Amino acid sequence: MMAAYGSGARSLPQHVAVIMDGNGRWAYRQHLPRVAGHRRGAEVVREMVQSCVDLNIPHLTLFAFSTENWRRPPLEVRLLMNLFRLLLKREARKLHENGVRLRIIGDRSALERDILQLIEEAESLTQNNTRLQLNLAVNYGGRWDIAQATRAAIAALQSADLNLQELDEQDIARHLSLADGPEPDLLIRTGGEERISNFLIWQLAYTEFYFTDTLWPDFDRASLEHALHSFAHRQRRFGRTGDQVLEGDCSVSD
Ligand code: IPE
Ligand code: IPE
Ligand code: MG
Repeated sequence: MMAAYGSGARSLPQHVAVIMDGNGRWAYRQHLPRVAGHRRGAEVVREMVQSCVDLNIPHLTLFAFSTENWRRPPLEVRLLMNLFRLLLKREARKLHENGVRLRIIGDRSALERDILQLIEEAESLTQNNTRLQLNLAVNYGGRWDIAQATRAAIAALQSADLNLQELDEQDIARHLSLADGPEPDLLIRTGGEERISNFLIWQLAYTEFYFTDTLWPDFDRASLEHALHSFAHRQRRFGRTGDQVLEGDCSVSD
C-alpha cells in the first residue's frame, strides 16, 4: 500500500535516499587530496542524520560505496574503507544514544573481516532503536540486489515445492534490501550528475528525484530544506490522473 502526498504533514517524505556525490570535486576545488573531500563528506553524513532526527523523517538511506567504486585507484578504495571503519568505531555509540537504528545494505562478501565485525556490533547495538532507520549502502549495487533477491525468491519457491512459473514481483520484492520499510519517497543526488549509478533501481520505481549541483560536502540543512520544499510541491500520481489524486482517490493497493 502506497500513499500519495501533496499537502500538510503528509508532504514530508517518510524515506529519503541520497546519492552523496561530489566529494572529489569539492577537494579538488580546495586544492586538497580527494580523501579530504571524503572526510568532510563523512561530517555531512552526521549532520544529515541529525537533520532527519530533528525533522521526524523516519527512514534515511545513504549511498556510500557502490559495487562499481572498486574500479577506483586502490589507494582511494583503501582510504574510503578506513574512513568507514573509523565511522563505525566512533559513531555507533552516538547513533545509539540518538535513537538511530543502523543497517548496512550491500554485498558483504567483499568486505574485510574486521569491518564485518564492526558492522555486526553496530547493528546489534542499535537494533531496537526506532527514531530513525539509517541504511548505509556499502558495496551496494541495484543489480546485485535484484540478483540476490531473485536467488532467494527461487530458493523459497523450491523449498515450498512451487513451480518457478509462479514467481511474481512480490516474491522478488520481499527479498530486496529495505523490503521491511517504505520505498524511498525522495531521492536526492548531489554533485550535478543526473543518473542513478546503479543505486536502488527497483525501489526507486515511483520515487521523486531531486538533482542539485551542490557538492555533497557543501550540502547543509538549508540544502536539505530546499529538496524537501521541492518534494512538497510534487503531485504523486502512481499512474492515475491528476484529477483522481485531487479527488482523494489516491491510494494504491497492489
Ligand atoms: C562521492 O564522491 C563519494 C563516493 C563515490 C565514495 P566522489 O568521490 O564520487 O566525488 P566526485 O564525483 O569525484 O567529485
Ligand atoms: C555514486 O557516485 C556512488 C556513490 C555516491 C557511493 P559515483 O561518483 O561513483 O558515480 P558515477 O561513477 O559518477 O556514476
Ligand atoms: Mg562521483
